Amino acid sequence: MDVMKISGGIPLKGTVRTQGAKNAALPVMAACLLLRGCRMTLDNVPGLHDVETMMALLRSLGVDVARTGDRVVFDVPGEVAWEASEHLVRKMRASSLVLGPLLARCGRAVLPLPGGCSIGSRPIDLHLKGLTQMGARVEIKNGFVYAQADRLRGRRIYLDFPSVGATENLMMAAVFARGETIIENTAREPEIENLAEVLRNMGVRVDTEGTGCVRIRGVDGVHDCSARVIPDRIEACTYVLAGVMTGGDITVEEIIPDHIDALLAKLEEAGASFSVKPNSVAVHPVKKLRQVSIRTMPFPGFPTDLQPQMVAALTLSSGVSLVEESVFQSRFLYAAELNRMGADVAIRGDTAVIRGVDGLDGASVRATDLRAGAALILAGLAARGQTCIENMEHVFRGYEAIDLKLKTLGADVSLDMGAETR
Ligand code: EPZ
Repeated sequence: MDVMKISGGIPLKGTVRTQGAKNAALPVMAACLLLRGCRMTLDNVPGLHDVETMMALLRSLGVDVARTGDRVVFDVPGEVAWEASEHLVRKMRASSLVLGPLLARCGRAVLPLPGGCSIGSRPIDLHLKGLTQMGARVEIKNGFVYAQADRLRGRRIYLDFPSVGATENLMMAAVFARGETIIENTAREPEIENLAEVLRNMGVRVDTEGTGCVRIRGVDGVHDCSARVIPDRIEACTYVLAGVMTGGDITVEEIIPDHIDALLAKLEEAGASFSVKPNSVAVHPVKKLRQVSIRTMPFPGFPTDLQPQMVAALTLSSGVSLVEESVFQSRFLYAAELNRMGADVAIRGDTAVIRGVDGLDGASVRATDLRAGAALILAGLAARGQTCIENMEHVFRGYEAIDLKLKTLGADVSLDMGAETR
């Protein structure tokens, strides 16, 4: 088990640079499966465990994947396998993003159903419903998805929920479909536009309009392409909140301001002080945040992936804040860990009621998932004394070199990899 130890209470200072977005890199990497005897060159690919898992999955399907720094080159052969490894898919839900491209390119795909995780059951029914509407024959047996389609048919598809993964899978499935596919009520996260850009670079006609509607005209083939992963908006906001919670003075570089508007608007409402430039945001010290109410929503609403980190920040605000989680079924497991540090967070159904306290005290706490781990790190940075965060494996899935980045900002952190379980 990997453990991070933090001696908190130090106001962070300095500059940190955002990594490439995990949630943009994963679908774009899966899209390389659409290529046949071609190459995709991808820049700004973050060094994350989840990226390594996707690379391993693509290699297991026959793709030659080579990394040099933050550039990854994918050489895709004329034929690829269409059965995804159970071990790898079960390890990372985003592996289900190979379903659409494999079905489009091979006419068949076999994939284990992704498991649930600590934030909810996370089915892929919307993915499968859309593929069926496009003419695929989909069967679920013994925990596996068996999908077949001689050639998918383009058509109008309405998503019951603006699912990020379903939008991405159906966009990739539509690339070789007969005719035009119009997907309505799609996710509008920036990662969707990053995928659309890559498909365009491959030679596909994709109109996103940014309004929750994606139009894709099927083609007979695609060609070599190069692309760049957008900055990770969730990682950037996590460091912004680290600056706010420690009363620090930090600059987060490599951001796209439009992608972090929801957080900045809420922080402004709560009385935080920051200045935004075209490629960076600088956080300035303030005494205490004011209470706010938040409801997580699909983009451009307040992101669910920032909910735990924002709750951690609000534990030190004045008054009582409410944070409602509307995207996932249960994303408050970390609250009990925050309360071990002296926070006062009560969960009422799908809402966290956060009564601000004067300060937090270091404790031993456990990360239950990626963003919960990030929230506990933020709390540890602000707390008096030492905090030990166990199960840091979750955090390494989505935060590149987080210990080094925090050290650069003056934090007193250390890692104990493979520590004995208590
Ligand atoms: C993506 O997950 C992100 N992961 C998640 O980030 C993020 O929290 C989520 O989008 C929402 O923004 C990646 O991009 C790799 P959804 P995804 O499909 O695609 C339900 C992180 O911390 N749903 O938009 O799985 C689902 O159960 C991770 O970086 C169905 O019911 O999210 C959930 O309640 C966590 N049926 C809601 O929709 C479906 O077929 C949102 O899911 C699909 C989804």
